[in-house]
Amino acid sequence: MAEPPPGYTIRHATQSDLPSVIRINRATLPENYHPSFFEDHLKKWGRAFYVAERDGEVVGYIMCRVEWGFGFKAKGLVKKGHVISIAVLPEHRRKGLGRALMLRAMDSLKREYGAEEVYLEVRVSNRPAIALYEKLGFEKTRVLHMYYLDGEDAYLMARKL
Ligand code: ACO
Ligand code: ZN
Repeated sequence: MAEPPPGYTIRHATQSDLPSVIRINRATLPENYHPSFFEDHLKKWGRAFYVAERDGEVVGYIMCRVEWGFGFKAKGLVKKGHVISIAVLPEHRRKGLGRALMLRAMDSLKREYGAEEVYLEVRVSNRPAIALYEKLGFEKTRVLHMYYLDGEDAYLMARKL
């Protein structure tokens, strides 16, 4: 299920992957972060930070964090996995890497961090990503008005783990 497509591997990110991760983030998403933000996530929640690799080249990543808060799906105060950013380089899409990265990260969030649910924000216009998340059982739980700097709304999507 969480197996990557043939020719690809998925493994935990290391410090030396961060330049590639940052390059992919800048090339594929408008939401970019300072290098220290990536480093911080790797240090604190590295078990849920994965890269996808082909021929020794990083072609995708998923970065998460763990938070305490009221559940969107689970009841009361719970540990929640938060998918901060996922991206796959365009020429490597639609092969199952996004799905495999999500499944690996969700497994770690649950089993290594004890998260009871997972959530994320996604642009309302981002149909590929929304389709991926819905296929994985996420539901749109609310709209975050003007969430992005350019004024676009986000869906907050969540599912139980
Ligand atoms: N159109 C429709 N459905 C799609 C599309 C698409 N373009 N892409 C993925 N899906 C759905 C399909 O159901 C697909 O299954 P199928 O190929 O059998 O039909 C399923 O998702 C799984 O697709 P994957 O191949 O696993 O996904 P991929 O490796 O292409 O990565 C991703 C998806 C990460 C969203 C990629 O398109 C990407 O990097 N986009 C740019 C960055 C981005 O938008 N990231 C998400 C931002 S939100 C956040 O980070 C929390
Ligand atoms: Zn977020």
